[in-house]
Amino acid sequence: MTFRIGIVGAGFLTRRALLPAIAAADDLRLVAVLDSDEAALRAVGAEVPGIWSGTDVRDFLRTPLDGVHVATPNRRHAEYACRALARGIPTLVEKPLADTVAGGQWILRAATASGAPAMVGYMSRYNAYNRAVVELVRSGRLGAPRSIAACHLGHRERDWRNRRAESGLGCLGDLAVYPLLTAVDVFDAAPTACRATGYPAGDREQTEIFVEATVWFGEERRLQVESSFTEPPETGISRYTVVCERGLLVVRNSWAMDSGGSVLVCDERGRRWLRPEPVDPYLAQYRAFAASAAGQPVPVEVGVARGLRDLRVLHALERSVANGGVRLALTGGQNP
Ligand SMILES: NC(=O)c1ccc[n+]([C@@H]2O[C@H](COP(=O)([O-])OP(=O)(O)OC[C@H]3O[C@@H](n4cnc5c(N)ncnc54)[C@H](O)[C@@H]3O)[C@@H](O)[C@H]2O)c1
Repeated sequence: MTFRIGIVGAGFLTRRALLPAIAAADDLRLVAVLDSDEAALRAVGAEVPGIWSGTDVRDFLRTPLDGVHVATPNRRHAEYACRALARGIPTLVEKPLADTVAGGQWILRAATASGAPAMVGYMSRYNAYNRAVVELVRSGRLGAPRSIAACHLGHRERDWRNRRAESGLGCLGDLAVYPLLTAVDVFDAAPTACRATGYPAGDREQTEIFVEATVWFGEERRLQVESSFTEPPETGISRYTVVCERGLLVVRNSWAMDSGGSVLVCDERGRRWLRPEPVDPYLAQYRAFAASAAGQPVPVEVGVARGLRDLRVLHALERSVANGGVRLALTGGQNP
């Protein structure tokens, strides 16, 4: 059976990653695309002829759809996700779940009321290298994980991610979210406290272009992360090191948009590379989405409740930045 997808937002993510993932699968089909920008619609229409494309959300939602993928600037996630969910359509919302915590709560309420499955677009969870790291750490062979040191850096200048009103969060929501997800998976625990400094701090209009942060998972384990928008154009740096009691894992490029990555393991046996079979994370994400639409439970780690908890942590980091790096306690419960 073909899973018919409607995408809201015909921008970079859609053209670079979502269209190729759908085109690669016989059982997925893009049937509709909604965008406020005619040029963006034309670009998608040129690649995928014959689909519904337009600017009217009511017409978009009247198209027979098995799932809606919301891939607009963060500020628009809640309104489109809630409209789709109100019509009972399974909905996948890009990361971060929303620009504000209130927007995320709105999506969670709509998902609960709808009963239709709702997921957050945490594609890095499907990356084969990140999965291999989590599997190895959880096997216990390297002893307990103690810390993660992470860098996720890129280039963003003068786009909506730099504007608080459209994005909510700058490099925290765009890049630091991935190290946070990985740390939750590796430690298999919920964050308990955080602190951060960054620039600009507490600006009402401009989002942070640099943040260094610490997130604690109990007093024993912590994530140390640096994220920024200040790399040269076309440059992305994605790297983390997991320090365990009896070994290290050094992971590169596993948060990037391709299927790539590398994992070096260092322990008493010496150094070796993990070589999992790469998978397209966007295709794997659509498979999970289609399975949920077909009746399987949404995995908790990509559920909207988890997306909201992560959004609260990112906003707590943002508050810490605005308050000179103060340490803040986090509540929000168990993992998962
Ligand atoms: N999962 C990933 O790997 C990944 C990668 C990049 C971006 N993202 C997320 O995807 C989302 C989109 O990012 P992007 O890089 O594609 O941004 P983008 O700016 O390239 O594209 C956004 C598109 O949304 C359209 N749009 C803006 N306002 C709209 C409205 N009110 N109604 C309909 N369409 C509207 C724009 O015209 C544009 O075509 C963001 O939430 C971002 O965080 C995720």
